[in-house]
Amino acid sequence: MRAAVLASGRGSNLKALLEAAERGSLPIKIVAVGSDQAGAKALELSRGAGIPTRVFPSKDYPHRQAQEEDLLIWMREHRVELLLLAGYMKVLGPQFIRQANFPILNIHPSLLPAFPGLHAQRQALEYGVKVSGCTVHFVDEGLDSGPILLQEVVPVLPGDTEESLARRILEAEHRLYPEAVRLLVAGKVKRVGRRIQLLQQEGSE
Ligand code: GRF
Repeated sequence: MRAAVLASGRGSNLKALLEAAERGSLPIKIVAVGSDQAGAKALELSRGAGIPTRVFPSKDYPHRQAQEEDLLIWMREHRVELLLLAGYMKVLGPQFIRQANFPILNIHPSLLPAFPGLHAQRQALEYGVKVSGCTVHFVDEGLDSGPILLQEVVPVLPGDTEESLARRILEAEHRLYPEAVRLLVAGKVKRVGRRIQLLQQEGSE
């Protein structure tokens, strides 16, 4: 399956996806990586892996819709069948989501619906939860509000800082995102309204 990734920053989730695809444990080909940030490390990483990249700087567009129209044209050119958001810091508008004729997934560093939006790890610490984690979900028109595909729980430990919690969650993210994509590509994901049923793995009860 031909996948595009959008990332605004460091790109460690992109790296985890690329490594899983390379190992053969994830049957996707990442055919294009886009960003709104010219300096994103994710772009460097992609160029190093020989993947075509493209920057869509927000300042070059009069409004979000124009930027998203270009994104869509670019994805069609690359015959994208799946879009993976990996630290993409812009919210995709309703028109883009309606027009994209492929699934869109995102990974978020909290157990949604708790702590959507920015600084999820800080929100979790400030709230005082004892566990947090990460969520892979389909993207809908809201903020981190689409149907949930997979979640992984991590403990919040006494003395945690935003950084230490973010590190622990990120480790889980790097397992969870490739696994969620693998299930989707394998046709094991059934959407019933906003609920996701994971179809049984072969050979399991
Ligand atoms: C991750 O924590 C992800 O959950 C969130 O943005 C961060 C991106 O990190 N959406 P990276 O660029 O993949 O390292």
